[in-house]
Amino acid sequence: MKICVLRGDGIGPEITAEALRVLEALRSDGLPIETEQALIGGSAVDASGVPLPETTLTLAREADAVLLGAVGGPQWDGLPRDQRPERGLLGIRKSLELFANLRPAILYPELANASTLKPEIVAGLDIMIVRELTGDIYFGQPRGIEQRDGQTVGYNTMIYSEAEIRRIAKVSFEIAMKRNRRLCSVDKMNVLECTQLWRDVVSDVAKAYPDVELSHMLVDNAAMQLVRNPKQFDVMVTGNMFGDILSDEASMLTGSIGMLPSASLDAADKGMYEPSHGSAPDIAGKGLANPLATILSVAMMLRYTFAQEEAALRIEGAVKQVLADGLRTADIYEEGTTKVGTAAIGDAVLAAL
Ligand code: IPM
Ligand code: MG
Repeated sequence: MKICVLRGDGIGPEITAEALRVLEALRSDGLPIETEQALIGGSAVDASGVPLPETTLTLAREADAVLLGAVGGPQWDGLPRDQRPERGLLGIRKSLELFANLRPAILYPELANASTLKPEIVAGLDIMIVRELTGDIYFGQPRGIEQRDGQTVGYNTMIYSEAEIRRIAKVSFEIAMKRNRRLCSVDKMNVLECTQLWRDVVSDVAKAYPDVELSHMLVDNAAMQLVRNPKQFDVMVTGNMFGDILSDEASMLTGSIGMLPSASLDAADKGMYEPSHGSAPDIAGKGLANPLATILSVAMMLRYTFAQEEAALRIEGAVKQVLADGLRTADIYEEGTTKVGTAAIGDAVLAAL
């Protein structure tokens, strides 16, 4: 089990440190885990001038799975676009063809009050958002900022091929089959041709999955329904940009984006695992960050890449135990619980493990 660890920037090193302790514990219990670290994002820019060094890409390719902390920070925002930390993240997703991004939004019962929505709206919430990750307006050409008729214009291209839609649709139907067999595909077909194709292809793929109830929803309505009645959803599938936005929205239903893991898979279930949140530069280095999303990303890694369901459940069980014991980082703290820092909640997860 070769794991390439990319700690990244901001809180990245702190949260991956806790996830590494979990991996180390599993290793001493007999799982053949090997880890190797490499640079990505701003720290790679500082060390080598580029956000995704060739050596990092090679190591990631040779590994069975990648664990990533987070990238980015204000000190790199002024750099030319191709040197920004985010380019490293987009580059590794594209280079490893990690087209299927799984972002579960699960509400732990202990955190029902941490959500800004009424507890009865979110209690028992369990949604899986499947976001296409290597296409769409994120990568479409042409793109740029240029002069046209004496005016500066900025432009991007929203584009999907039938094959790209077909493969992400298949992944979503397969996931729906293992859950409650309901899939909602999100598009903007009333305005955008690209997403008319999306709807047509998803509907076609559905023919092979008669047991899955497929519905379609326009993205603006989906954004509204997520806060109006989120429990109507089981699995949602959408393109790269809509998925970016809707997954942040869904994370807040669960109280904190600090709880949400993610998996980005290729066609062979090789994957990169990372928390859904960013590098939180404002709290970096202070020992305040919530490492649970990263630890839960390790659970996803064991489940999806290594087919170690038991070990995955063990980690998830340990996290639930820590929450039940009343330990909270600042982002999920409420009165009557115990506020602790990154390392202390990591200690507690290890003890529960
Ligand atoms: C995410 C992030 C990234 C994205 C950024 C950091 C490039 O927001 O993983 O959701 O837009 O995909
Ligand atoms: Mg995002």
